[in-house]
Amino acid sequence: MRQKIIAGNWKMNTTLEEGIQLLQAIAVQIKDNTAQVIICPPHTHLASFNDNKDVHKQILIGAQNCADEACGAYTGDISVAMIQPFVKFCIVGHSERRSYHGETNESIKAKIDLLLQHQIQPIFCCGESLEERNNEVHFELVESQIAAALFHLDESSIAQIIIAYEPIWAIGTGHTASSAQAQEMHAFIRSLIAKKYSSAIADRISIIYGGSCNASNAMELFAQSDIDGGLIGGASLKAEEFIKIIQAAN
Ligand code: PGA
Repeated sequence: MRQKIIAGNWKMNTTLEEGIQLLQAIAVQIKDNTAQVIICPPHTHLASFNDNKDVHKQILIGAQNCADEACGAYTGDISVAMIQPFVKFCIVGHSERRSYHGETNESIKAKIDLLLQHQIQPIFCCGESLEERNNEVHFELVESQIAAALFHLDESSIAQIIIAYEPIWAIGTGHTASSAQAQEMHAFIRSLIAKKYSSAIADRISIIYGGSCNASNAMELFAQSDIDGGLIGGASLKAEEFIKIIQAAN
């Protein structure tokens, strides 16, 4: 059985001081949860969180993004080698990066390759806009995102990927996908992996849901057979709420 994963994406929120407080508030409330808890804070927090590993033993740390080049003249960018000492995971292809920073499938593919070379597990985001769903091209769109960024990987590499299905119309809007809509897409994604690789690999791969997931809807979403947890934005910034989401995955 796949272990549930609950990942908090703090986005561009919290100063370092606020981040340390939030991390501690979450860490003290985590009991014997069976879900894997990951927190992805801003890059500026990574070294400090790593120095204080002992206070958050049950929480693994991830980055929110990385550069698609190994090093060089890329002002303001942060390379995979720079984050490697501090993280086990890194989000790639988030829709906010795709839309505000013009990230392409090519760039996302390059990031995934660099992360895997550095033994960091990519949390690869995909998902359609409302217009694409209304035009009934959402399956096609998600398939094209996955094929472009992942299908060059061999079997051992694809098994390292965590796929996050995040319909853009659900992110930060309060309009969660229904559990049936999310399950339908997750099952479709798993079928793509089975077709390209094998059903054994498809059974192992974690596919998590993101988009207005909160303490009230988490349990129903996580009860779906192909939903292996969540990528949580807004609700991961409130310790009590985030803890309830973690408990919903147990
Ligand atoms: P949200 O964000 O939970 O605030 O909708 C999810 C995400 O963007 O990862």
